[in-house]
Amino acid sequence: MCGIIGVTGDDGALGTLFDGLRRLEYRGYDSAGVALVDGDHVWRARAADGTRSVDDLHAATADAPPSRTGIGHTRWATHGGPTAENAHPHEDCTGRIALVHNGIIENHAELAAPLAARGHTFTSETDTEVLVHLIEEEMSGGAGLADAVRATLRTVRGAFSVVAIASGEPDLIVAGRRSVPLLVALGDGTGLVASDVSALLGRADRYFALDDDQVVEIGPGTLRVTTLEGAEVDPTAVTVDPAWDVVAAQMDGFDDFMSKEIHEQPRAIADTLLDRRASDGALVLDELRLSPDEVRAVDKIVVVACGSSYHAGMVAKYAIEHWARIPVEVEIASELRYREPVLHERTLVVGVSQSGETLDTLEALREARRAGARTIAVSNVVHSTMAREADGAIYTRAGPEVSVASTKCHLAQMVALDVLALALAQWRGTIGPQGVGAAMDELARLPSMVEDALGRQKDVDAVADALLGARDYFFIGRNVGYPVALEGALKLKEISYLRAEGYPAGELKHGPLALIEPGTVVVAVLDPLRDKMLSNVAEASARGATVVLVVSDATAAATAAATAAAATAAATAATAAATAATAADHVIYVPNVREPVLAPVVEVVPLQLLAYGLARRLGNDVDRPRNLAKTVTVE
Ligand code: M6R
Repeated sequence: MCGIIGVTGDDGALGTLFDGLRRLEYRGYDSAGVALVDGDHVWRARAADGTRSVDDLHAATADAPPSRTGIGHTRWATHGGPTAENAHPHEDCTGRIALVHNGIIENHAELAAPLAARGHTFTSETDTEVLVHLIEEEMSGGAGLADAVRATLRTVRGAFSVVAIASGEPDLIVAGRRSVPLLVALGDGTGLVASDVSALLGRADRYFALDDDQVVEIGPGTLRVTTLEGAEVDPTAVTVDPAWDVVAAQMDGFDDFMSKEIHEQPRAIADTLLDRRASDGALVLDELRLSPDEVRAVDKIVVVACGSSYHAGMVAKYAIEHWARIPVEVEIASELRYREPVLHERTLVVGVSQSGETLDTLEALREARRAGARTIAVSNVVHSTMAREADGAIYTRAGPEVSVASTKCHLAQMVALDVLALALAQWRGTIGPQGVGAAMDELARLPSMVEDALGRQKDVDAVADALLGARDYFFIGRNVGYPVALEGALKLKEISYLRAEGYPAGELKHGPLALIEPGTVVVAVLDPLRDKMLSNVAEASARGATVVLVVSDATAAATAAATAAAATAAATAATAAATAATAADHVIYVPNVREPVLAPVVEVVPLQLLAYGLARRLGNDVDRPRNLAKTVTVE
């Protein structure tokens, strides 16, 4: 997630920008830059050296001109690698306008083409740069900076917060936003703007939040807020607790990064889906670097990954086989390396990794390349080692994940792999444009369904309260419910240190049932294959297990209808579910997803909340669980 800071009316503008950039470092970044108004042009410096970028940038600004107005940015690469050329601020062709951006401009390619035809020179691979050239065109036609920003943002599809300065208006910062937060602050004769409050603390006495599709003109101690059409609106004042310190501010009001990241999941999956459809509805995966012919030649897919990424890969098996009809094997990366896998040039090997650096997955991909297979990395870090070395990449756009327990990246991986599955199906012709469109529409509903699932936290908390004291857990599911069960068990053991096993429900009676006794908790993901699941739940229940059911709203509705209609033949299964739900000790309902292979994205949410709730009640440090590291670069 990029970080933005801007200031005007400040004799020490550069120092204020650096202070803000350092406070924004926690968001994760791979490059950084600043721009200052300097006479009749803007002065700019940028650095791309990973997390050393702000230090490098500082060294590069030793001879910066004095200025009272400037903008700064830490970039988390999405479009274009983490290079100095792609770092923000971006400049127009005249060197008089500079702009920083957080978010994704979905229609950047279609906006850029006519600009390039009219002679604008693009110097980066970013989706952002188009904005500064659009502003340039508006200003060369006589518009002031604020009007030019409003006109530009009216043409944009996607999510953004942007901040711009222009040398012709040295005491002005213009900012606008849609779906990406931006805070404005006024101090004594100064005006500031930032992507989060941590960069502003202690520098202002009045704070304002910008709403969607609003633009703010910030001067020294002044502000004016308008709609994108230019109609003036009242600024939305917000209260910032003076007791907040920078670390608390970085948590955004959450107690820890894990819960912050769990609540960022709707945004993470929405961003991962942005920009994937061309105007004719066809799926576009820019970084895949595989031609449709190469895809058609693939006769087997092998997914390699570890931990939560492996579980996302397991879900992808169902999606790819369902839509693209290609056989898929999913393998723990550390296992693939030390056997003799049958891989060849018609095998596509997909490495799934939040960090893109996990050694086992990296080496499995290298092994696959040596064997002649085509490789793809699904990574949250642009230009991670896996993404650089693989033939192609698909990026999840979850923003940096700080907590060791993966949550938002896991959801974003499932969604990215769903898009891959649909793209494979499109190129192989196994489903038509209408089918692809319908599936993409259902994917687009997932952010609000995840939001809905998060809104039911109280239900999960009540279950966590009731389960406190239990030591042994089994998570069971069938079909796509099975990887959900595995992920629920992994989350629980990782942060609560409780014994938790994930099993395909049908396997219970082949051994694990021997361990079930009064006090054992069985968490059952009921959908799909509800009837089969109910038999397994009954087996556990009969041995005294405490049963928690995760049930979709559709099942709940069906059970209610069936109960009302008595046991008609069609309602028999639903009645059985109603009976089981009544017999279960606890039931957690989740929003209904119409396409079953997409359901894990929503069903895993209450299991994350349950693990989190239990770990917190046990007094554990959820962000830094014992014995575990965020990125595992050893075997
Ligand atoms: O960075 P990666 O996705 O390759 O990491 C894989 C696993 O180490 C990771 O998912 C781990 O299992 C998490 N701690 C799970 O919450």
